[in-house]
Amino acid sequence: MKTRKKVMVLSGILMLVLVALFSCASQQVAPEKPQEMQVAQAEQPAAPPPPKEEKPKSLYDADVKPLAPAECGRCHYSVFSQIKNEGGKHKLDCTQCHTKYHAYNPVKQNWAEIMPKCETCHGVFHGQKFTACTQCHAPHAPKTQIAVNAETAKTCGDCHGKVAQTLQQSPSKHTKVACATCHHSKHGLIPSCMTCHKPHTANQTDKDCLACHPAHSPLTIAYPKDTANSVCGACHGAVYKKLEASTGKHKQVPCAQCHTKHRLIPKCQECHGQPHGEVVLKKFPDCLACHVDVHDLPSKSK
Ligand code: HEC
Ligand code: HEC
Ligand code: HEC
Ligand code: HEC
Ligand code: HEC
Ligand code: HEC
Ligand code: HEC
Ligand code: HEC
Ligand code: HEC
Ligand code: HEC
Ligand code: HEC
Ligand code: HEC
Repeated sequence: MKTRKKVMVLSGILMLVLVALFSCASQQVAPEKPQEMQVAQAEQPAAPPPPKEEKPKSLYDADVKPLAPAECGRCHYSVFSQIKNEGGKHKLDCTQCHTKYHAYNPVKQNWAEIMPKCETCHGVFHGQKFTACTQCHAPHAPKTQIAVNAETAKTCGDCHGKVAQTLQQSPSKHTKVACATCHHSKHGLIPSCMTCHKPHTANQTDKDCLACHPAHSPLTIAYPKDTANSVCGACHGAVYKKLEASTGKHKQVPCAQCHTKHRLIPKCQECHGQPHGEVVLKKFPDCLACHVDVHDLPSKSK
């Protein structure tokens, strides 16, 4: 009994739905075209018959061209957009790398064999210690941003042997500072000296610091000839003030032009040759015996 009732109710509902659908459909088909349009269509001339000579084009009447990257990208959309956005210098033709593709055979397990090899174009780029290229580089987005952490910090010297060597060969307190203490957070970060040091004088920039102190051998001090006297004055205040106050002609000469290297004491003759007769100079080999103070030459105007 129960099942018969159910069947009846269900078929009733089905009928209703069908009726509703039909009326809907006929309503959609129904809209009547405006009268004028029908007239206009009727008046249109029949389409000219196709010219007799032209045969219908064959499906095979075309040259086959190799797939361009955008065409591979129709199916490999994510690969295409990754290269487009992050590919850097790998925006090459896909087939320049994938000389073989659509050749994977799960029975042969030949994936590694058919995939492009980095070495073909780059050789063993960073030496024998780093041969698993894709551990650090995604092939379709090769610019890597390796994190600097305790683990990667051990490897800096393997790729930057020269820097490690410089730090060892020019011992300074930086030799004991770990690479990753300065180059922290992310690979390639260049630190500001001022994160750890105060400048000698106000307004000094990192560029100034580096002009005197190479980062990896900071005690190998060298400075340009146009270094401002005030920079030296930060540490040699007495000499600086004396020269500033002097009326002698050496006031025109910058410190760095006489002291071309730090701690180097110049010979007067380098600039003046032989200003006096040999007899005088033999008797008084020290010019300052008469000229007193190189930083404050006694002058006639005094
Ligand atoms: C610089 C070389 C290079 C270029 C250019 C390149 N690929 Fe690849 N591609 C590789 C390498 C290497 C792998 C292997 C990755 C692996 O071992 O899983 C790979 C893997 C793939 C894979 C399989 C794994 C995956 O990521 O889905 C597909 C698909 C693929 N590439 C498609 C493309 C297409 C499409 C293009 C061009 C739009 C392209 N590749 C351009 C080097 C390249
Ligand atoms: C009509 C769709 C289509 C086009 C176009 C296409 N592929 Fe594929 N490709 C596939 C499918 C499907 C697979 C297998 C499933 C998968 O790995 O995504 C595949 C797999 C691959 C693979 C990995 C497996 C293997 O056997 O090599 C590479 C690499 C690849 N395609 C490269 C390319 C390159 C390069 C182009 C353009 C020259 C290209 N594909 C064009 C559909 C396509
Ligand atoms: C078909 C040759 C080819 C293959 C295979 C290839 N590359 Fe390249 N790669 C290039 C070229 C070309 C450049 C650009 C070189 C340049 O301009 O100095 C490049 C550049 C790079 C760069 C620098 C990227 C940038 O944007 O500056 C990295 C990193 C790199 N490749 C890593 C890899 C790795 C890792 C693999 C293997 C997964 C690989 N390449 C496979 C040709 C290739
Ligand atoms: C331990 C991680 C690591 C491994 C493994 C590795 N690389 Fe690199 N590679 C780097 C880093 C870091 C750079 C520096 C540039 C950057 O940030 O992308 C780089 C840069 C490059 C560059 C571009 C240099 C430039 O001019 O900017 C190429 C090309 C390259 N690698 C190829 C390879 C190849 C080929 C292999 C495998 C034989 C490989 N790499 C393995 C980390 C790695
Ligand atoms: C797999 C090799 C590799 C490893 C490991 C590596 N680097 Fe590099 N690094 C490179 C390459 C390649 C470049 C770019 C070319 C260059 O300047 O020599 C680079 C560039 C740099 C630069 C210069 C960035 C610039 O703007 O001039 C610094 C700084 C640097 N690396 C520091 C480090 C430190 C610190 C570590 C350890 C945490 C490290 N690297 C580990 C390969 C590597
Ligand atoms: C006291 C901080 C400090 C330490 C320690 C340090 N660096 Fe540097 N490094 C710098 C600064 C600052 C620069 C920028 C130098 C410049 O622009 O002349 C730099 C530049 C670099 C460069 C790019 C320029 C170049 O000389 O090749 C690399 C690579 C580099 N450092 C790697 C290393 C490695 C590897 C170590 C550890 C063995 C290390 N650094 C230790 C501060 C440091
Ligand atoms: C991460 C911190 C750090 C950075 C960045 C840093 N240094 Fe240092 N530096 C030190 C430490 C630590 C010492 C040893 C203690 C001290 O003298 O303050 C030192 C010592 C020095 C010394 C004396 C070396 C010696 O052996 O007596 C000089 C010079 C110096 N730094 C210059 C620089 C310059 C220039 C820069 C920027 C290129 C710089 N430092 C960047 C940490 C740093
Ligand atoms: C004109 C060259 C010159 C410039 C520019 C310069 N320094 Fe120096 N710096 C020196 C000399 C010279 C010493 C003393 C070295 C010695 O003791 O023999 C020194 C010493 C230092 C020392 C060792 C500690 C101390 O104070 O004696 C640190 C640290 C230092 N400089 C950091 C810096 C920083 C940071 C900058 C940039 C803001 C900088 N220097 C710019 C020449 C310079
Ligand atoms: C950060 C401080 C600092 C700066 C900046 C600095 N010096 Fe020095 N300088 C020193 C120290 C420290 C000595 C060693 C003093 C000693 O041995 O009594 C020294 C020594 C000298 C000496 C040798 C002194 C002697 O008795 O033999 C000369 C010359 C000299 N500096 C010139 C300069 C000049 C020129 C500049 C600017 C281009 C300069 N210094 C910048 C700290 C500095
Ligand atoms: C015309 C060349 C000349 C100029 C300019 C000059 N010096 Fe000197 N400086 C010398 C000579 C020569 C000596 C050696 C003097 C001696 O033997 O008594 C000397 C000695 C020094 C000494 C060590 C002895 C001392 O008096 O403390 C320091 C430090 C020094 N100069 C710093 C400076 C600074 C800083 C400046 C710029 C403000 C400067 N010099 C400008 C030639 C010069
Ligand atoms: C870097 C070159 C240089 C060095 C080194 C140098 N001088 Fe001079 N000196 C000069 C210049 C430039 C003048 C100014 C010349 C002019 O204006 O005619 C000068 C002028 C003088 C004058 C004339 C002073 C005046 O006010 O009329 C005397 C004296 C003198 N120097 C002595 C010395 C003595 C002594 C030394 C060594 C202790 C010395 N100089 C080292 C470059 C130098
Ligand atoms: C016996 C003392 C004496 C000695 C030693 C001496 N001078 Fe003089 N020098 C003088 C006198 C005096 C003048 C003239 C002063 C004047 O005109 O103001 C003079 C003038 C100069 C002048 C200026 C010349 C001019 O045309 O204006 C220079 C430069 C000079 N001396 C350099 C030197 C040098 C360099 C030495 C060492 C090689 C030296 N002197 C040794 C006494 C001396």
